[in-house]
Amino acid sequence: MPRRGWAVARQERGGAGRNWAAVEVIIRADAEEAVSLAAGVISQLVRDQPDMVLGLATGRTMEGVYQRLADAHLFGGLDFSRVTTFNLDEYLGLSPDDPFSYRQYMERHLFAKVNLSPDRTHLPLGDAPDIGAECRRYEDLIRACGGIDLQLLGIGRTGHIGFNEPLSAMFSRTRAKALSPETILQNMALFDPPSRMPHRAITMGVGTILDARRCLLLATGDEKAEIIAQAVEGPVTSMISATALQLHPRCAVIIDEAAASRLAHQDYYRWIFENEPDWDGFR
Ligand code: F6R
Repeated sequence: MPRRGWAVARQERGGAGRNWAAVEVIIRADAEEAVSLAAGVISQLVRDQPDMVLGLATGRTMEGVYQRLADAHLFGGLDFSRVTTFNLDEYLGLSPDDPFSYRQYMERHLFAKVNLSPDRTHLPLGDAPDIGAECRRYEDLIRACGGIDLQLLGIGRTGHIGFNEPLSAMFSRTRAKALSPETILQNMALFDPPSRMPHRAITMGVGTILDARRCLLLATGDEKAEIIAQAVEGPVTSMISATALQLHPRCAVIIDEAAASRLAHQDYYRWIFENEPDWDGFR
């Protein structure tokens, strides 16, 4: 019998509104369990819908997810050959073969380890000669591929999703954005030398992300606790882009105990998770 909820995507296209939760918060004991659940949800969707369009994120939190997807391919035969991917963002000015580009991050952590077809993996071109045209091309391509079935998201300390820094418009589309000093501080250690880190990036807009049929935000560790509390329980504000996910019809926020520690309604989220049939098979 086909499963409802997270395991079924295609038949829900165009059928918005029925039996859809808004944000679901899922609290796992530790980072390991949170990352495994996120990878498990993605694997299940790839199995159920082999031609799905998967939105990808980069960053430290995602590395474990990609490792588990690579393992699921290697040891479990998970087939990515018909999957199409779109990444959220790319640093402005970096070419795809720059070792610090997000294209190379994706090659290292996922693309080279699974059987994704290279012509189905997409990131914005950070060194495109006409950035405006590149952003429009990216939006058009997402649309031409039928839209994103599941968008994977991390969250920055400023509350950014993708690189939608504070005051990003709720309906913004793919464009170049200046990175905040806090984000530069968060990521510059990953560059060698740190001063090489670009101060701007091309990112899907908040509106682009909200168009995805499902969103899955993953966050772990106590340094994310405060921003997770604001993103999930705070008022919707363009000062914290992740609060826009409260407007999404189907968004799962998977966090560990540490990242959940500032949430006021933890018991309620646990109760919902235990009683929601959509998560049968993932508990
Ligand atoms: C990058 C992206 C960012 C990161 C966020 C968290 O593609 O989407 O929003 O997800 O900055 O990064 P980490 O996981 O390194 O804390």
